[in-house]
Amino acid sequence: MPINIAIDGPSAAGKSTIADLPAERLGYIHLDTGAMYRAVAYNALKKEIPLDDEEAIVSMIDEMELVMDTDGDVILDGEDISEAIRANEISMGASEVSKLQKCREAMVTMQQKICAGGGYILDGRDIGTVVLKDAPVKIYMTATPEARALRRVKQNEEKGLDADYQTILEDIIKRDYQDMHREFSPLTKAEDAIEIDTSDMSIEEVVDKAMELVNEVLGE
Ligand code: DC
Repeated sequence: MPINIAIDGPSAAGKSTIADLPAERLGYIHLDTGAMYRAVAYNALKKEIPLDDEEAIVSMIDEMELVMDTDGDVILDGEDISEAIRANEISMGASEVSKLQKCREAMVTMQQKICAGGGYILDGRDIGTVVLKDAPVKIYMTATPEARALRRVKQNEEKGLDADYQTILEDIIKRDYQDMHREFSPLTKAEDAIEIDTSDMSIEEVVDKAMELVNEVLGE
């Protein structure tokens, strides 16, 4: 059976890119778990549900039909929201709803079901510590807030989204704090995860490093 691979780290550390390329090489599927919390925030904002109303958010989750397409598209109740969930407002909202224990439980259950057959690379905040505690490869990616803000500016410019460096940097620092200090499953490096600081590394270097770790486990 193919293995599952866990990638965790703060926002904009390059987790998605580093999950995408090895997934392509291995013929694995990349599941972006952050996009699931983003979809919850998107739906709550659309339905004007307060992001800290746990009961209302949970009932909303029970009713929403969320499809995480194998090619990375996020479909909510038949609507492709892949681009819409990248807006700054949704990033902050996702960080808010991800504090709610019952929201986390619902997302973790979905994620574990999706990757039950193996062959997945999951990226998120609690993959190595909660979702895939037994994953044979766990990577914890970090980079300075400044390096991450610069990357996000570039990405946003390419997508035609808000790309003000200072706003993005402040949001990243605020989200880091929220994600690392929340009560339930805060972002933390799993004891058995390998840390890669990507601040001064190119994408190719990070992908090579990730592939090296995977190949060690696969025995290739
Ligand atoms: O990876 P991202 O920036 O798209 O994630 C959006 C938010 O969702 C982030 O602020 C923290 C939260 N999140 C989480 O709590 N657990 C995950 N496994 C993935 C994301």
